Amino acid sequence: MTENRQITKAVIPAAGLGTRFLPATKAMPKEMLPVVDRPAIQYVVAEAVRAGLQDVLMITGRSKRALEDHFDRVPGLEASLAAKGDDEKLALVNEATALGDIHFVRQIDPQGLGHAVLCAKRHVGDEAFAVLLGDDLIGEQESLLEEMMKVQIATGGSVVALMEVEPESISAYGCADVTEIDGEDYVKVNGLVEKPAPEDAPSNLAIIGRYVLSPKVFEVLEQTGPGRGGEIQLTDALETLAQDTTPGGGVYAVKFTGRRYDTGDKLSYLKAVVELACAREDLGSGLKPWLKEFAKEL
Ligand code: UTP
Repeated sequence: MTENRQITKAVIPAAGLGTRFLPATKAMPKEMLPVVDRPAIQYVVAEAVRAGLQDVLMITGRSKRALEDHFDRVPGLEASLAAKGDDEKLALVNEATALGDIHFVRQIDPQGLGHAVLCAKRHVGDEAFAVLLGDDLIGEQESLLEEMMKVQIATGGSVVALMEVEPESISAYGCADVTEIDGEDYVKVNGLVEKPAPEDAPSNLAIIGRYVLSPKVFEVLEQTGPGRGGEIQLTDALETLAQDTTPGGGVYAVKFTGRRYDTGDKLSYLKAVVELACAREDLGSGLKPWLKEFAKEL
C-alpha cells in the first residue's frame, strides 16, 4: 500500500528532441536554455527539492553531458573563485550541486514521455513518485506539487495538474474530462485524451507538466503501445488508470491557476525570461523602465 508512505522521489524527463526550439536545440538540450541566468532545469530541480523530494532522477538523452555537468562540481573554477575570494560567484557555481541527490538514466531512443517515465521504473520501485517535465516552469511562489502530493496520499491513485486554456489551443495538450468531488478541492478524472482536435476535446482543461503517480503506472506503461505521433504517451497510460477501480488505480486532478511557462516553446520562453527578470531585485529596476519605454515604440 502506498497510502501511508511519504513521497520522496522526483523523476524529471529531459530526453525529448526539443524540435520546437530549433536551431538552438540542435546540439544542446532545451532544458539547458538559460532563463535569466540559470538553465531551465535548475528551476525544476529546485521546485522538486522545495517540495521535499531530495531524490531526483533525470531522464536524459542526446547531449546529456551538459545536463550532468551542470549538476556536477567544477573543481578548477571553484578553486579559482576561492583564491580570488569571490564568495558570491562561488555560491552561484555551487547552487546546482548543492540542491539534492541527483541521478541520471539514459533513454536511448526518445520514444515518448510514457517511455521516458518507464525508464525510471527500477529507480522508483514500488512507491508513488512525482514527475516534473524539465521544460515546464511553475512560479516559485506556487505550491502545486505539494497539493498534488497530498491528493495522491489521500486517494492512493495518480494525480495530474490541469490548467484552463483557450478551446482552440487544446490540441497542443493532453485534455481531461473531470467531475467535481463534493467537499474536495481536487476533481476526479473520468478520461484523458492526448492532443485532441478542438471539436473532439471533452473540455478546455489541459494537462501541464506536473504529475504525482502511483507505481501502478509502470505496469500500465509496459502494456501501452505507441499512440499519437507514434510515441508511447503517458496520457494513454493515465487514461487506462482512470478506468481502473482496483487499489492504485484512479486518476485525480488539481486545477492550477498560477504562473506556468513552457520553455520548450519560443514565445512562452521569452515571456518567462522577461517576467522572471522583472521580478528579480538585481535586474528588475533596470529592466522595467526600459521595457516601458520600449513598449511605447511597439
Ligand atoms: P515534449 O513533447 O515537450 O518534448 O515532451 P519534445 O519531444 O522534446 O518537444 P518538441 O515538440 O520536439 O519541441 C515533454 C517532456 O518530455 C520529455 C521532454 O524532454 C520534455 O521534458 N521527453 C519527451 C522525454 O524525456 N523523452 C521523450 O521521448 C519525449
